[in-house]
Amino acid sequence: MTDLFDFKPKPAAYAVMGNPVAHSKSPQIHAAFAQQCNQRMTYTAIQVDVGGFAQAVGNFQAAGGHGLNITVPFKHEAWELCDELSARAAQAKAVNTIMFRPDGAIYGDNTDGVGLLRDLVINHGACIADRRVLVLGAGGAVRGMLGPLLNERPAQLVIANRTPDKARELAGEFAPAQVQACGYEDLSGLKFDLIINGTAASLQGELPPLPDGVIAEGGWCYDLMYAQAPTIFMRWAWEQGAEKVLDGLGMLVEQAAESFNLWRGVRPQTAPVIEELRRDIGVAR
Ligand code: ATR
Repeated sequence: MTDLFDFKPKPAAYAVMGNPVAHSKSPQIHAAFAQQCNQRMTYTAIQVDVGGFAQAVGNFQAAGGHGLNITVPFKHEAWELCDELSARAAQAKAVNTIMFRPDGAIYGDNTDGVGLLRDLVINHGACIADRRVLVLGAGGAVRGMLGPLLNERPAQLVIANRTPDKARELAGEFAPAQVQACGYEDLSGLKFDLIINGTAASLQGELPPLPDGVIAEGGWCYDLMYAQAPTIFMRWAWEQGAEKVLDGLGMLVEQAAESFNLWRGVRPQTAPVIEELRRDIGVAR
C-alpha cells in the first residue's frame, strides 16, 4: 500500500525551445547543475514549429512548467510575448530565459551577454576596459551582448555586418559615441584588441571578409560558435597571429548558469561542467 506521507511534489519542469533543438547541450548542462546544487527538476528540449511558438509556451505553462530557455529562431518572438522584462532583455529586444510568475505573468531575461562576459573576463581574464572591440554580425546573437560589453567601458565598440544597414540600425539603438557600425570593407587599416564573431557564417563554413592585419598585436578572437574542430574563424584568427582564440562553449555554460540562478536562486559552478562538455564532445580549444 502506498504511504500517503510519502507524497513528494513533482520536480520543477524546465525546457529549451528552439528549431532545431535536438543537438542542444542545454539538457546536459542543466542536469549537471541540478545534481551539483541538489535541485529536483527536469529539463527537456522541445522542438517548436515556426509559427507555433506562443502556443507552445502557453501549453508548457498550462502543464505546470516553471521556466524556459529560448534559442534560435524564437528569441525576438519571446521578447514580444513576455509581460515583464529585465532591463537587459528590454534593451536587447531578445529573450533567452523565461520564468513563469506564480500569478501566471511571463518574465523574460537575456543571459547571453552576461554569459559571454563571464567567460571572457572571469574564465579567461580578458580586460575590455579601454580596448578596441569589434563585433561581427548584427543578428539575434549579437543583440544581447552589446549592453554588457559597453558596461566594461571599451575604448571603441564597432559592429561590422555583411548588410551594413542592419548594423547601423542596431548601433542606432545606442548613443552615437558608444557604438559605431560599418561594412567589412570599411575595416581596412583599423585594428582591434578583441574581435567577437557573432555571425552565422561559421555554421556554413564561411568567413566574413575581414582584411589582413585587423587583429591588433596581442589581440584576442572569440567565436560564439563551437564545434569539435576549430571553426574557420578560429583558424583564421590563429593564422593572423591572435594571442588568444576562444570558442563559444564557455559562454554556452555561463549563460545557462545565469538562467539557472534566476530560476533556482543558486549559482552553480561552471568550470566542472565546461570541462565535462569538452571531454564529452572533444571540442578543440
Ligand atoms: P542570429 O539570430 O542567429 O544571429 P540572424 O539574425 O540570421 O541569426 O543573423 C545572422 C548574422 O550572421 C547576420 O549578421 C548575418 O549577416 P546579414 O545581416 O548580412 O544577413 C550574418 N551572416 C550569416 N551568414 C554570413 C556569411 N556567410 N558571411 C557573413 N555574415 C553572415
